[in-house]
Amino acid sequence: MSLQGRRILLIVGGGIAAYKCLELIRRLRDRGCAVRTVATKAATEFVTPLSLASLSEDKVYTELFSLTDESEMGHIRLSREADLIVVAPATADLMARMAAGMANDLASTVLLATDKPVLIAPSMNVQMWQHAATQANRATLAARGITIVGPAAGDLACGEVGSGRLVEVPELIQAIETALSPRPLAGRTALVTSGPTWEPIDPVRLIANRSSGKQGHAIAAALARAGAAVTLVSGPTAEPDPVGVTVQRIETAAEMLAACQQALPVDIAVFAAAVADWRADTVSTQKLKKGGEPPTLTFAPNPDILATIAQHPTSRPRLVIGFAAETEAVVEQATAKRLRKGCDWILANDVGLGTGTFGGDANTIHLIDADGAEAWPRLAKVEVATRLVDRIIAALA
Ligand code: CTP
Repeated sequence: MSLQGRRILLIVGGGIAAYKCLELIRRLRDRGCAVRTVATKAATEFVTPLSLASLSEDKVYTELFSLTDESEMGHIRLSREADLIVVAPATADLMARMAAGMANDLASTVLLATDKPVLIAPSMNVQMWQHAATQANRATLAARGITIVGPAAGDLACGEVGSGRLVEVPELIQAIETALSPRPLAGRTALVTSGPTWEPIDPVRLIANRSSGKQGHAIAAALARAGAAVTLVSGPTAEPDPVGVTVQRIETAAEMLAACQQALPVDIAVFAAAVADWRADTVSTQKLKKGGEPPTLTFAPNPDILATIAQHPTSRPRLVIGFAAETEAVVEQATAKRLRKGCDWILANDVGLGTGTFGGDANTIHLIDADGAEAWPRLAKVEVATRLVDRIIAALA
């Protein structure tokens, strides 16, 4: 991929590997990239601003409260004028400040103020890398959609051996190319439902189900990573909001349907929510009291959200995908369900007792489309999401 004309904001952290940045800037300049650098105070102990400025052929930004820097180029503009922010070396301290959302120098302020993709290349002593605090920060940053490259294993400058080396420049350039590649679903819109619905009985009681929202949230995240503008309509779950996704939180099936209709028109719709098929016919405004006969609940059917959107008279999404939770004759039942509901694909999963699918981390899927059923191996829910999104990309190509 050509890097010609791409703009990279390189944030140099204060680690011994900072010297490799000079080579990185050179190679990026050779490829036609514009490189602007921000150096932390510690970084300037390892590489001189003069070296960074000479190689990047631009000024080096170091101060948050510099009258000249802020008037010439505020921290917001530094991010706005970049296609990608690269942090190399990303020290343990810089990662910790990113994870905590601190803004106590120019580098951390730019990283907090940016909406651009961020790639970090950690480099530190092996004990620092393996420390639970650094590993927790790594997981937090990865969950926010930050690309983490390395560290590599080998001899470390501190004399120890292990994981902690900054990856070599060619590998960094490759990661930068990937991060700047066009995203296949850019310009597409998607709607995803996830989690259970809660149907109230009285002010304190409700009918719910065991859906965790893991699968729907993973699909929303994967669609967003591929560049789609995603609206996630979710019932109550413990899952964090996926990065870069618009999340609408609802409780009942009726609220879920209304939120979905509001999100139309979209190109892609994936219905992964476990919607309650019935709700209590009447919701008591007062708490039902015990004593006397136990109450009898009568139910009213809920709207079928998938079927409603799949058969929408004016705004049917181009690709409508449902799930089928079955406990027997999985493929047959799901094949009939696809036709009944009018969707394009159904991802059928076996939710029988003992399969651990509901609330678990893995799924065994059969993808059913007009051509038949395709059996997928047992996959983690995040892998199911990636595989589904790859198929969506191919179908819309
Ligand atoms: N679904 C929906 N609205 C409902 C019920 C289900 O949008 N009121 C969607 C689910 O999100 C899923 C698909 O329909 O994508 C199938 O859900 P499933 O529970 O397997 O099927 P049901 O329609 O409930 O049929 P049955 O209970 O008879 O298997």
